[in-house]
Amino acid sequence: MIRAVLATLAGSALAVTLLQPTSPAAGDEPLPYQDPTQPTDVRVADLLGRMTLAEKIGQMTQAERVDIDADPSLITENRLGSVLSGGGSVPADNTPEGWADMVDRYQEAALATPLGIPLLYGVDSVHGHSNLLGATVFPHNIGLGATRDPALVEEIAHITAMETRATGPQWAFAPCVCVARDDRWGRTYESFGETPRLVISMETAIDGLQGKPGQLDRPDRVLASAKHFAGDGLTAWDTGEGDYTVDQGISQVSREEFEKLALSPYVPAVKEHHVGSIMPSFSSVDWTEDGLGNPVKMHASEELITGWLKGEQEFEGFVISDWRAIRQIPGTYAEKVEASVNAGVDMFMEPIQAPNNPTGWDEFIPTLTQLVEDGDVSMARIDDAVSRILTAKFELGLFENPMTDRTHLGKVGSKAHHQVARRAAAQSQVLLRNKQGTLPLKAKQDVYVAGSNADNIGNQAGGWTLTWQGGSTNVIPGTTILDGIEKAANGDVVFSEKATKQVPRKSVGVVVVGETPYAEGFGDVGGPQWAYDPGDNGVPRPEQTMELSDADTKAVEKVCARTVSCTVLVVSGRPMVIPPALLRQTDALVASWLPGSEGAGVADVLYGRRPFTGKLPVTWPRTVDQEPINVGDADYDPLYPYGFGLRTR
Ligand code: GLC
Repeated sequence: MIRAVLATLAGSALAVTLLQPTSPAAGDEPLPYQDPTQPTDVRVADLLGRMTLAEKIGQMTQAERVDIDADPSLITENRLGSVLSGGGSVPADNTPEGWADMVDRYQEAALATPLGIPLLYGVDSVHGHSNLLGATVFPHNIGLGATRDPALVEEIAHITAMETRATGPQWAFAPCVCVARDDRWGRTYESFGETPRLVISMETAIDGLQGKPGQLDRPDRVLASAKHFAGDGLTAWDTGEGDYTVDQGISQVSREEFEKLALSPYVPAVKEHHVGSIMPSFSSVDWTEDGLGNPVKMHASEELITGWLKGEQEFEGFVISDWRAIRQIPGTYAEKVEASVNAGVDMFMEPIQAPNNPTGWDEFIPTLTQLVEDGDVSMARIDDAVSRILTAKFELGLFENPMTDRTHLGKVGSKAHHQVARRAAAQSQVLLRNKQGTLPLKAKQDVYVAGSNADNIGNQAGGWTLTWQGGSTNVIPGTTILDGIEKAANGDVVFSEKATKQVPRKSVGVVVVGETPYAEGFGDVGGPQWAYDPGDNGVPRPEQTMELSDADTKAVEKVCARTVSCTVLVVSGRPMVIPPALLRQTDALVASWLPGSEGAGVADVLYGRRPFTGKLPVTWPRTVDQEPINVGDADYDPLYPYGFGLRTR
């Protein structure tokens, strides 16, 4: 009886007074929430009943490490439930030990609260724990989609989970289960491909990260986060000046198409793979026919988050907002918070990240507190959110083992992990053209190597590597494509990025062209100079075109005119336009995507150590004007169709 009474009083001050816990004195029985032999739902209900409103709202609040690193007691004082590393937000000592020490320092501050609720630390381990210098960096998802190998994707995700958990974070904001429909989107490379079927097949990534149900508490597993719910890859966004951009835009499809292309990946993610968290998209949906009606931000869509995801799909994990995304919801800040909490968002990524923003979580906490006190947000909604978050923390074993379990610390960046990265790079290569069996090359041949991406590990790794945007000078442990060629070739190897050196007679040519790194809207083709809704960021960005640079084009022309055979590799986050005249000059053409830290894997298929087996995960257009172009379109006339890929023995 007393439990029933207390359960009904759970959120009230009286209950708190009655139940305000003190940790049991030495030798006393542990409180139910502290007892690992109790079922999780019993532990959650017991703990919830002991929490003040401030403690509950604290659990719904996520700060960025920059906000609290100088003073972790802010975690204690504000009862913060989670901290994240945004892209590139790393400890001064960016080593495995440095990360584990950092997370443990924050954890100690969380455990110093009256209830000792452990902290959840999240990071974008989207192609390995790639903020960490020394982590194994794998091909980005678009290349993994080209492998058509779900088991490999699971293996990569497992290694990623191991290297992430061993260095502190217990939560990866991955995998993106976005279906990229417009390759002008700067996040195309974060997608496994353009069809829901291919994306769904790669959701083994969730299993690799989380393990099977009941394994989340292991030192080689992390909570996963399927993102970005939903339709992030289906958007365009008319900025009003005749411009458009893709990222964070409005889904350009009907409700029926949206269900097929955007919602369908979340059904198996929830029901089959039991993903522990889901992150909404910055984008909006607009079901009015002409698409110019009343777009609703995904972060404010009660219909889709509470109705479809938590209701129809019975999603029991928690919903984490994207980076300050609720601030793009129309209205005052209180209206933004009210709309997103009542839509079903459970935890709020509200970094301050000074000096970028004047406020963040420090504004969120009092705002939500006031909304609850005014009755605009119900305690039932708060309790639902907190219960979901606590359930994840119990299942992660954080109450029993809150500090980093460093069992696998020594395996971070191991030779064995790099061998998997090398195999993945090889399997991700898609052979698009191979005149007279140019490939595989013969080791005895002299080879002339050129192009902007032949010897640049930062470019082959792409965005989300050491820094948010990645960078051409971001050097990580591994091998470039040139390194791989030099190891594989027995003949002379000449490297000249711009093909200025003389081409020795009888050389075969390899020209590695492509993109420099970018992330999110900064990679959008076309559109205004700012990547995001000017109301929130208005950050200028570099021009992207999907076309080869002049230097790369000239390198192809020079090398292909002077060599016995000429192979062009395209290292990029999406298809690039190869003009017909240029294509005719090549003998072989390979889509290399963003192969990550092991360029040697690319050389493995170039020299026949492994066969080419990759297939296009996205349609390869003739021109940018064909975008968006996807398999199944009427009048489908690409340069190379979705699923295409030549094989070699
Ligand atoms: C970013 C991305 C999201 C990422 C989050 C945290 O804006 O949209 O994919 O997980 O912020 O870095």
